[in-house]
Formats: sequence, structure tokens, C-alpha cells
Amino acid sequence: SLTSPILAIETTCDETACAILSPEGAILAETVHTQSGHAALGGVVPEIAARAHLALLPDIVAETLEKSGLALAEIGAFAACTGPGLIGGLIVGSNYAKGLAVALDRPFLAVNHIEAHALTARLPGLFAHDIKFPYLLLLVSGGHCQCIAVKGIGNYEKLGGTIDDAAGEAFDKVAKMLGLGWPGGPALEKLAREGRSDAVALPRPLMGREGCDFSFSGLKTAVARQIAPYGMEALPRPVAADIAASFQRCVCDVMADRARHALALLPEAQSLVVAGGVAANGAIRTALEALAGEAGIPFVAPPLRFCTDNAVMVGWAALETIRACQGAGQALEDGIPTAP
Ligand code: KG4
Ligand code: ZN
Repeated sequence: SLTSPILAIETTCDETACAILSPEGAILAETVHTQSGHAALGGVVPEIAARAHLALLPDIVAETLEKSGLALAEIGAFAACTGPGLIGGLIVGSNYAKGLAVALDRPFLAVNHIEAHALTARLPGLFAHDIKFPYLLLLVSGGHCQCIAVKGIGNYEKLGGTIDDAAGEAFDKVAKMLGLGWPGGPALEKLAREGRSDAVALPRPLMGREGCDFSFSGLKTAVARQIAPYGMEALPRPVAADIAASFQRCVCDVMADRARHALALLPEAQSLVVAGGVAANGAIRTALEALAGEAGIPFVAPPLRFCTDNAVMVGWAALETIRACQGAGQALEDGIPTAP
């Protein structure tokens, strides 16, 4: 069993992160570095991100060890995401962690990035009570948009997902059309406060339809059509604000509708949990909170720094897996079933 701290690495997108957790899940140290340079290019460039992870990791790991006051030799296990994510970053992060594990003769745990997001809400000390299984996870980030039934450790069912863009991607693309830069979600939310959410008629893709899939491409096209008569440069600010507010309203309505359908597929859900950068959006939080209230279950939104990519969630998912394996009578030394 694991009696020493675990060191975890996260490199799936543009965050280079490291965390050290006690075997019980207490956070001993963490570092999250969001790579600069992608904003100027209008999005994350995978090859640049991978090379940056490689350049940054030694310092990020050293910095995290220093914060924890631990020596590398005191680490009992290493974990990193092996998917899904940008392949270059995955290769860099997982091989870095594996290299350390081999050098120190410690176990290496491969963690599924979605599973890490899914289990974050169960981090000790985050909420007064344990988040019980099963629960519905709405993962809404720049790369993901899924409804997941979290039934237990290693027991997940994808109830629905996007058939085109992720929610954050839609925010970013609409923000770009409005001339707001990248990443556009926060800027769009801010602009939306100046506008009227019923000013512009926009479609609500898949709303009311069976299941809980998402689609955003039609909505994006509809926004582009609203902007076209002006041209981005000449778009008056009040019009841009109305478009932003109306777009955000659409996303809120669609998300609440999709989550409602997902809850119908998981009637025994104990709570509604959100994760991913889009969970920062106040209007979306309000809509989902109302839905959870309707369903009579708690709405659980972990602090934003745990909703977005970080290494704490990777370490925690590894610890949960270790504990589940032990519960099943499987020794850590026998190897951990690795996530796909
Ligand atoms: O989880 P995250 O930090 O990174 C990954 O995609 O893995 O999510 C980033 C996404 C971006 O698309 C960003 O525009 C969006 O989350 N986002 C928001 C807000 N803050 C971040 N979208 C809407 N409203 C926000 N306040
Ligand atoms: Zn993520």
C-alpha cells in the first residue's frame, strides 16, 4: 500500500502542472503554469505546447518538491495523464513521470484525464460531506463537453457529448467573431453583462431532443450571420453586447436542457457536479444550480482552480484508484489497471 506521498503531472493541453499529495489526499504542494504564447496565435498549438512542457517540466517539478519540503527520494509513486489530450503533451508528461518512477523504483500510475476531472469533487476537505456515487458530471471545457454518469471508481458511463464543438470552443469562436481575443469565454461573459439576452433570436441546437448530446456549430453560424451585415470591425458595442448576451443565454438554456435529460437517464444521481473552464461562467452556474434545485439534489462546483486543468486532480484520481484496487484485494506492486 502507498505510505509515502504521490507526485502527479498534468500536461494534456497548455497547463504544465505538478502536485504532491499525501497518501490520504492532502495537498502538500502544487504548481500550475499556464503556457503563455498561445494567446497571440489564437489558440493552443499542439507542437509548441509539447515542446514547452518538455522545457518547463524539470523546473515545475523541482519547484513543487521545494514547496513541499520533500526530497524526490521521499516520493512513493508517480502519476500522469496518458489520455485523452494533445498527444505531444501526453507523451512528454507521462514519460517524464515514468522516467522518475523507473529511476526511483516506484510505481507509475497512468491516469485518464476525464477520470481525473470526474473525481475532483471528491477531493478531501473540498466539501463538508463526501460526494457520493452515483453523480452526474457535466464536463465543459475548451476541449470537452460531456455528460458522464460517475458510478464509482473506474465505473463511468458517457451519457452524451458534443457532436461538433466543445462548449468552451463555441465561446472562444464566438468571442473571436466579436473581436474579443483568446481565450474568449471570460471576455464574452463580461460583455454579455452590457447586453440583453433576448435581443437576438438564435437557435438552441438539440434542445428538447432525446438524450443529452450537444451541438454548437449551428449556433456559431447563426452568430456569424448576425455579425456579417456590420463586419467585425464596424460592429457597434451595444450590438456586440446583445449578441454576446443572447449567445450566452442560448448556451445556458441548452446546457440546462441537456443536463435535465442526463439526470433523467440517471435518476439515482446524488448530485450534479460541474468541471472544466466553462464552469467559471456565472450564468451557466446559475442555470445549473436551478436545475439541481428542481431535481432536489445538491449542485457541486469545485473551486475554479480545480475545475480547470491541474495536477492535484491527477494525483487524487491515482490515489482513488489505488484505494479501490486495495479494496478489491489487489496489491499496488501487482500493477494498477491503467486507464485507456
Ligand atoms: O478547462 P479549461 O481551462 O481548459 C481546457 O479546455 O482543458 O477550459 C478553458 C475553456 C476556454 O474555452 C474558455 O474560453 C472557457 O473555458 N471559459 C469560459 C469562461 N472562463 C473560461 N467560458 C465561458 N465563460 C467563462 N467565464
Ligand atoms: Zn481538462
